[in-house]
Amino acid sequence: APSLAALAAAKGIVFGMALTRDQARDAPPLAAIALAQSAMLVPGNELKWVRAEPGLGRFALDDADALVDLADANGLSTRGHTLVWHEALPAWMETGLSRAEMSTALSRHIGTLCRRYAGRMHSWDVVNEAIEPSGAEAGGLRRTPFLAALGEDYIARAFALAAEADPDAILTLNEYDLERDTDWQARRRAATLDLLNRLVRQRVPIRALGIQGHLDPAKGPFNPEVFRSFIRAVASLGLSVFITELDITDRTFPADVAARDRAAAEETRAYLAAALAEPSVRLVVTWGISDANSWVDGNPGTRRTDGLASRPHLYDAAFRPKPLRGAVAEAFRSA
Ligand code: G3I
Repeated sequence: APSLAALAAAKGIVFGMALTRDQARDAPPLAAIALAQSAMLVPGNELKWVRAEPGLGRFALDDADALVDLADANGLSTRGHTLVWHEALPAWMETGLSRAEMSTALSRHIGTLCRRYAGRMHSWDVVNEAIEPSGAEAGGLRRTPFLAALGEDYIARAFALAAEADPDAILTLNEYDLERDTDWQARRRAATLDLLNRLVRQRVPIRALGIQGHLDPAKGPFNPEVFRSFIRAVASLGLSVFITELDITDRTFPADVAARDRAAAEETRAYLAAALAEPSVRLVVTWGISDANSWVDGNPGTRRTDGLASRPHLYDAAFRPKPLRGAVAEAFRSA
C-alpha cells in the first residue's frame, strides 16, 4: 500500500510526523513508521529553548542533531520547532530579563540554532502561540517574557534574526485553536489576522502561518466554511498555510473503541478536506505517531475523564494503523 507521504506527494502535499529522540530510542517501531510513512520529520521537543539552550549561552543540540541527521540520512526534510515560545523555557528566561538582556538572549539563541541548521530546515516555527488564549486582551497578544521585555517588536525581531541566519527556511508563525466556530476562536482568528497584517505591512520576513490542528470537538463545532475563509484571508496576505501538529482529543467521544475511532476519523477527514481544498495548504504534519506515546494523556485539559487512554493518533498502542490513518489517506486521495 502506498505511504501517506506518497499519497500526499501525488497531490503536491508534504506529509510529515513529529518524533522525539526518546521515542526513536525507546520505541523503534515509531521511527520505522515515521521513516516509512512521512517525507518530513519534526523534532518534537529537542529544539525548544529549555532543551536547546538550557544554560545562558550553553547550547545542547546533540538530540536535535540526531533527529536532523536521521531525517537527512533517510531523505526526509525537517521542520524546526520552535525558536520563541513561552513554554519549555529554562528558569533563567522567566526571571524578568531586561530589554537589553532579552535582546541579547534572543539574538544568540536564534542565531545559533538557525545558523547550525542553515540550509537543512524546510521551515522554522519562529514564534509559537503568540496570541492571547481568549484572543481578547493585550491587543490580542499573549503576555510572555518576550512581550514583557521587548513589546510586540519581539516578533518582528525574531523573524529578522532567523532570516539573517537561514535565508532559505520558510519562516512561520505557529498558532492553535483557530478552527472552531465559536466566538472566542473567532476572536483568536481575528487577532491572528491582525498580527499577520501588521507583520506583512512591516515587511517582516514571514512566509507561512502554521495552524497546529490539535482537533478538540469539546471546544465547539467545526464549520468548514468558517475555517476555509480564514485560510483564504491568510493566503490573501501572500502567506502559505501549514497544518503543523495534527491530532485529535477524543474526550467527548464514546468510550467504545470502535465508535470512538470512527468519530475521530470522520472529524479529521472533514477537517483535512476543508483545509486541503485551499491551494495555500500544502503541508500536513501529525503531532506524534502512536497512541502509546502521546502528550494528550499527560495533560489534564485534554485527557478523558473516564480514565480510558485517549486515542489521538494514526496508529494504536501496538503500532497498528487505525481508522484515523485511513481518514488521512482518504483526505490526500480526494484532495
Ligand atoms: O523527558 C523528561 C523525563 O526525563 C522526565 O522524567 C519527565 C517528568 O516530567 O519529563 C520529561 O519531559 C517531558 C517531555 O514532554 C517528554 O515527555 C516534559 O516534562 C514535558 O513538558 C514535555 O511536554 C511536551 C510539551 O509540548 C511541552 O514542551 C510534549 O511532549 C509535546 O508533545 C508538547 O508539544 C506541544 C508543541 O510543542 C506546541 N503545541 C502544543 C503541543 C502539545 O502540547
